[in-house]
Amino acid sequence: MKKKIAFALLLVMVFFGCKQKNQTYSKKESKGDLAVIAEGEKLSTQQCALCHNSETAADQRVGPTIAEIKKAYRSSNTTETDFVKAVQTWVEKLDPSISKMPKAVEKYKLMPKGAYTNDDVAKIAKYWFRSDTEAKKQEAPKTPEEKGIAIALGTKKVLGKNLMGTIQKKGTDAALKFCNLKALHLTDSMATKFGATITRVSDKARNPKNKADSTALEIIAAYKSNLAEGKKLEAVVQDKGTEYQFYYPITTNSMCLQCHGVPSKNVKPVVLKNLKALYPADKALGYDVNQLRGIWNITFPK
Ligand code: HEC
Ligand code: HEC
Repeated sequence: MKKKIAFALLLVMVFFGCKQKNQTYSKKESKGDLAVIAEGEKLSTQQCALCHNSETAADQRVGPTIAEIKKAYRSSNTTETDFVKAVQTWVEKLDPSISKMPKAVEKYKLMPKGAYTNDDVAKIAKYWFRSDTEAKKQEAPKTPEEKGIAIALGTKKVLGKNLMGTIQKKGTDAALKFCNLKALHLTDSMATKFGATITRVSDKARNPKNKADSTALEIIAAYKSNLAEGKKLEAVVQDKGTEYQFYYPITTNSMCLQCHGVPSKNVKPVVLKNLKALYPADKALGYDVNQLRGIWNITFPK
């Protein structure tokens, strides 16, 4: 069975492998490994590069670069397995007493906790171990737009993962509090690291604290008409002097409907009852998939 899967994967890689760009790995890699490493590269960009990229000017970095981490974690006789294990242990424990980079802890403060899975970290570490991470400069967020998108998508990912995981393990009802941004540690830590304020607002808010102001309402209206016309929804960046104000769309997928869908159709009675109790002024029901649920409203300093 395993062999079959491996073979199928190999075939897929043979057919599609040539499409992968920017690869600087040695020729020894098997095709299956390449798939894992490509995945690791993507995950690294999404989950770690925001703090560990080398593109940010040295005096503005919020963490050591991947190359600096590699230097501390990899000597000439470190095997890939050792390296992966060490990175996993670090991300799991975040304990200064096992730090291999005490100077970085001093300089940047301890790495904040995020919702990383062991599996993802293994893929990321494999990618770090094998690739020439310094040669790949194009990934770091550079423009304010890219930075805003990185913060929004990073937060969205953690939010989605928490919602999904809790819904699967404990049911929709128990997951209610996980759609509250404040329940997410990563949001706090990103906010601290980047001096960013991360909020979501809506024209039909569930929590009255998330009501859109007049600027946000205008942007929401524009997104809605673009969505109806099938146009791409672009980020909106406003220059506010010392900081940027960033807006980005939040659209629904089928998972959202368990708590934001049509009451008689998608939302279970017990969930509805608890929503009513928690949010008496709830306007965030009646949605279908691929509709505009609200927008990210993120501010960060220049
Ligand atoms: C919000 C910022 C942030 C994110 C996101 C982040 N890190 Fe870090 N990381 C840091 C900072 C700051 C340090 C340096 C201080 C320290 O070592 O704790 C660090 C240090 C490290 C170290 C060296 C630890 C030591 O002291 O020995 C490793 C390994 C590491 N990070 C892995 C990762 C991986 C893997 C990811 C993605 C899954 C990641 N980091 C995401 C901020 C971050
Ligand atoms: C398990 C139930 C649940 C699911 C599933 C869920 N939400 Fe929510 N959502 C809530 C609750 C509860 C709030 C109010 C959070 C608060 O108090 O800040 C909320 C608030 C929001 C807000 C902030 C604006 C407002 O109405 O207060 C947005 C935007 C949002 N959800 C989008 C989504 C999207 C997009 C999805 C699917 C990817 C989703 N939600 C899935 C329960 C859920």
